Amino acid sequence: MNTLLSLIKTPVPRDLSLPLPLNPDDLAIILVVLFLVHIFFVNLMMGGVILSVIFEIVGKYRKEYDQLAYRISETVTANKSLAVVLGVGPLLCISLLYTMHFYAANALTGYAWISVIPLVIIAFLVTYLHKYTWHKWTGPDKNRHIALGVGAVFVFMGIPMIFLANINLMLFPDKWPEIQGFFSSLEVGNVFPRYFHFLMASLALTGLFLAGWFGRKKYALEKNLPGCNRGSVRRIFYRITFYATIAQLAFGPLVFATLPIGGVTTDLFILISLGVAVALLLLALLRLEIRSGDEHIGRHYAWIGLLFTVLVLVMGTGRHMYRESSLMTHKALIADKTVRFKSVEAATQMRLAAGLGTGDALASGPTGKSLFANCAACHAVDKVLAAPSLREVYGIYKDNPQGIIAWAKEPGKKRPEFTPMPSFAHLGDENLQMVADYILQLGAPAAETESSDTPAKL
Ligand code: HEC
Repeated sequence: MNTLLSLIKTPVPRDLSLPLPLNPDDLAIILVVLFLVHIFFVNLMMGGVILSVIFEIVGKYRKEYDQLAYRISETVTANKSLAVVLGVGPLLCISLLYTMHFYAANALTGYAWISVIPLVIIAFLVTYLHKYTWHKWTGPDKNRHIALGVGAVFVFMGIPMIFLANINLMLFPDKWPEIQGFFSSLEVGNVFPRYFHFLMASLALTGLFLAGWFGRKKYALEKNLPGCNRGSVRRIFYRITFYATIAQLAFGPLVFATLPIGGVTTDLFILISLGVAVALLLLALLRLEIRSGDEHIGRHYAWIGLLFTVLVLVMGTGRHMYRESSLMTHKALIADKTVRFKSVEAATQMRLAAGLGTGDALASGPTGKSLFANCAACHAVDKVLAAPSLREVYGIYKDNPQGIIAWAKEPGKKRPEFTPMPSFAHLGDENLQMVADYILQLGAPAAETESSDTPAKL
């Protein structure tokens, strides 16, 4: 993708000048943790709905599967309520941290996005109907009952698709101008691989959950599932986790391979490789469990659970890292626009207060400080963010501001630990000159500048 062209065509909104309730790094940690708790129950709900219907169909031929299907459907109603309630937290965090991106995506997929609410209501009502008619719609009515379950599965499958389309669309501001509603948003990025990855994760997690739920000592197995034995029930669900995790070994790399490259950093790659290693370990343990006899199966459950938690944490963090790095440049552009707007606004207020009218304040141009917003996402004064610090830049260019301009127009590749810097040629020489002077001023050792001149954070 041509960075320069896509940046010129990309809509850049102005941020709301409201302070965040917490510092953004803490908010990001809270977002990731709350999201993982939420998605845990979403996975159990999705996996439960799907497995319950599949088991019910198998139950037409093998009676014990029908009982299992019913007991699974009992877990779904609780898990779906938790999924929805626990969705509020991450939704609030994401709308604070990525306000412009999240709401832009919501607005672009308007009807689909708002239809999440009626769809959730319908899905829940159908799920309850399915559960409560289980022992009524039997015999000749059984097929009708199964059809109801299949209907619920389809509604349930549509909701995460809408969410995913939004969360995905917000990552690609350069695609916003072409979006014509929900269906066209499905063409952006890699929605479908991510969706199947999510479905498989749901099956894997639900298998593991149900192996523990029905396999635990306290579960009244003889009463609830007469004729079933604890070991074989555990084995059924372990198998589901096992095969779904194997499928992830195909879907995972597919997601990674179809990810638009913009946000893939070395750190992300290392993190994901770590996730794959954990998944392989998990598979080995699951295999051991499946192969052990009825009296031993379940011994490694806690370890498997722990590995699964690590895996989910790794993937959740990776997801956030990808989002951060793919939005970095666009966030910097928004910050620049916001700073410029504010300075124009302040100047206009002053002119108005002085009785001078709005005058030409609106035409006042950018300053080195306001333009630095383009760079601030990656370059800090003494900290190494996604790029060398300004101290280091000062060391290289203190006698050569022209060198900064040349580099910003056509950045090279010097340091292997960073992803390459995008070109800022579109800012033009005059603006780059102002940024270069400003950077040298900020990067100079404290003794050489008035420290009061150093902005803390933009
Ligand atoms: C998206 C992140 C990002 C943004 C935004 C960014 N840079 Fe960079 N910059 C980098 C990275 C990464 C490097 C190091 C590249 C390397 O060494 O391979 C770098 C290096 C530099 C260097 C040092 C070059 C050298 O010779 O070692 C200068 C100067 C620089 N950037 C200026 C700017 C200016 C000016 C802006 C804003 C107009 C800016 N950067 C915006 C990521 C960024």
